[in-house]
Amino acid sequence: MPMYKHLQRDAGRPPVTLATLQRMKADGEKIACLTCYDASFALLLDAAEVDVVLVGDTLGMVIQGHDTTVPVSMDHMVYHTAAVARGLQRPFLIGDMPFMSYPTKELALENAVRLMQEGGAQMVKLESGGKQTEIVEFLAGHDIAVCAHLGLKPQSVHKTGGFRVQGREREAAARLLDEARQLEAAGADIVLLECVPAALGKTITEVLHVPVIGIGAGPDTDGQILVLYDMLDITTGRKPRFVRNYMEGAGDNLEALKRYVRSVKQREYPAPEHCF
Ligand code: KIV
Repeated sequence: MPMYKHLQRDAGRPPVTLATLQRMKADGEKIACLTCYDASFALLLDAAEVDVVLVGDTLGMVIQGHDTTVPVSMDHMVYHTAAVARGLQRPFLIGDMPFMSYPTKELALENAVRLMQEGGAQMVKLESGGKQTEIVEFLAGHDIAVCAHLGLKPQSVHKTGGFRVQGREREAAARLLDEARQLEAAGADIVLLECVPAALGKTITEVLHVPVIGIGAGPDTDGQILVLYDMLDITTGRKPRFVRNYMEGAGDNLEALKRYVRSVKQREYPAPEHCF
């Protein structure tokens, strides 16, 4: 990787920062996000003008071939985050905290620092709510930018009984809204909502001041995210309802990525058939 990467940046393409994302929420400009796991795809995502790149622990499924994200380790996350960071200039980079990397405040801090210092992440993401709210507060208190992941939490699937839509019942929806508020108050800078009814996605987005990024959370969240390999139709087997295949009609990967960004910005994705 060239040294002094920041000095080689194109002045016409300033890097996306948290302030950029807050401004986009305020202006009603949709935020286009994707997951990524390596430098080659990172270059393409950057060229396609993706705003936010998440090195998600979904790498356990789409890269490593596991059934869940549970086997992913901190070393795996640091390795892939560093690879992605080498390919990016403009997008904001979030690194995912894997299963059991944040059971205590001290361990959470140690691992968040690794993702930032060794991996080059600008923000860390934690599956949050309940006990993790105080971990979010602790990290935020150390000036670490935090994305709180709510709704379907894949690291908990063995406990919660599988990959299911969350917040369908009135009580569960109220609980999620309450957790989202508490996480914002604790210092979360972004909330990522996975697999919730569109109406709940809309309410949480309206109530929170921080940007809300949705995956299967309806059209009204401030931004959208998909797993890269799902939207490029690399993943085999049955895909979740919210996935759209952007390779359909696209000549190559870059064109598919550009179509995704355009469809998010122009509010064409997600369409009603992608929502719960
Ligand atoms: O780990 C991940 O890739 C995620 C996405 C599903 C948003 O959290």
